[in-house]
Amino acid sequence: MDFKIAVIKGDGVGPEIVDEGLKVLDKIAQKYNHKFEYTNVLGGGAAIDVTGEPLPKESLDTCKASDAVLLGAVGGPKWDNIESSKRPEKGLLALRSGLGLFVNLRPATMHESIKEASPLRADIVEKGVDFVVVRELTGGIYFGERKTGVENGVEFAYDVEKYDENEIRRIGKKAFETAMIRNKKLTCVDKANVLDSSKLWRKVLNELAKDYPEVELSYMYVDNAAMQLVKDPSQFDVIVTNNIFGDIISDEASMITGSIGMLPSASVRGDDFGMYEPIHGSAPDIAGQNVVNPIATILSVAMMLRYSFKLEEEAKAIETAVTNVLNAGYRTKDIYNGVGEVVGTKEMGDLIAKEI
Ligand code: IPM
Ligand code: MG
Repeated sequence: MDFKIAVIKGDGVGPEIVDEGLKVLDKIAQKYNHKFEYTNVLGGGAAIDVTGEPLPKESLDTCKASDAVLLGAVGGPKWDNIESSKRPEKGLLALRSGLGLFVNLRPATMHESIKEASPLRADIVEKGVDFVVVRELTGGIYFGERKTGVENGVEFAYDVEKYDENEIRRIGKKAFETAMIRNKKLTCVDKANVLDSSKLWRKVLNELAKDYPEVELSYMYVDNAAMQLVKDPSQFDVIVTNNIFGDIISDEASMITGSIGMLPSASVRGDDFGMYEPIHGSAPDIAGQNVVNPIATILSVAMMLRYSFKLEEEAKAIETAVTNVLNAGYRTKDIYNGVGEVVGTKEMGDLIAKEI
């Protein structure tokens, strides 16, 4: 089959990891007889350098006209002093919102063979880590009203966390559906002891729960969740949460599995279209050195095949190849902890592609 993919390499390590993702896609194309047509699209700092905008209209239009988007990472110190509405990160947020991608799926799975890379004690990870964070992606404080100003000679700034019931219902539905195809355990992470917005989340989720009687729904305050995640991550199956809590706990989740370089993500909206990106950032400090872990991006490509192209067998082939290469002892620097052999970004991509 033929698929159109918009490719945004972005900044920092972005180009390096995307290249490995494409290497793996090319191998899939060859082995399973598909055609993937790539269109490079400017986004983030790379777009600012050329056009002055973090997401030029043309970029958004190309993404809209594609079957899926593959994104590396955006941002870096070079653009840190730009006015906040023009920062590279704003380009990413404009993409998420412009494409209507309100669901962000971030699966945290422990690969048996890299257990030693987890900072958690062996007896904790022994119980297994396999959950998914369903993060709301186009609302809340990221997109709420904000202002910086001076009042009576005193500087102030605010950012508003606002959700309406429809926004909560649509992400809630996705979370229940995700729970239904997993272990039917859903935890809503919030701060309902303090925030009105969290209380509305609970009200809407309680209503939705009636349609999913098989799903065991529970609530956990985000501070407690941060603690429970390191105390016993095996207790979680599906976590649903707002935009900002999802950002924070997914970084924590990734580290539990060994490295932030391991976690893929899919941003979707209910049809086949989606944007796929690793959850990590542009890591400018290690860019261009062939050391960044490409696995999060390669696993994001697998998610693209599964969710946007309905190519389950091909998706599994990538995931199995990653597992096999890790089992064989190959490690990028971030997941090396005294066991196995350290390889570079390109070599890791080659090994995975070869394994498919
Ligand atoms: C992420 C990133 C982004 C976010 C940044 C780069 C704006 O941290 O995808 O988790 O906060 O959503
Ligand atoms: Mg983040």
